[in-house]
Amino acid sequence: MSVRLFPLLLCVGCADRVERVLAKDGDPSAGAAVWDEHCVECHASDGTGTDDGPDLTDEPESSAKLADKILYGWGEMEGFSEALSNQEVADLIAYLEDTVVPPASSTQDR
Ligand code: HEC
Repeated sequence: MSVRLFPLLLCVGCADRVERVLAKDGDPSAGAAVWDEHCVECHASDGTGTDDGPDLTDEPESSAKLADKILYGWGEMEGFSEALSNQEVADLIAYLEDTVVPPASSTQDR
């Protein structure tokens, strides 16, 4: 449990960047390219996961949570705050919400 909470606890100032990502319009087709380049090796192209990363298709996530986990990491997954721009993260989230991750209707924040 503490392993999962660790990145969030480290990251009090990080909400700012999540806000900036969420303020952008994501382009799902650009996001597909980011997904192919950075994510499929562990999560598989359809998002159902591999030995190196979990299935992302079975659990709803809000856009804000996706942005936070992608930027700053989650448990064993390292964050992509250095590797990806805010626009790339926004594009990626648009792609994930179109195709991979079920929408979190009650907590959806955009
Ligand atoms: C090196 C392998 C690896 C890569 C590359 C990777 N992930 Fe992950 N990802 C993981 C692992 C492992 C976890 C589970 C971490 C945990 O729960 O401890 C995870 C968790 C996640 C979660 C949270 C799932 C949950 O249960 O809350 C999301 C969302 C996610 N990854 C998205 C992405 C996206 C988007 C990319 C590309 C930018 C990416 N991942 C790249 C290995 C990877």
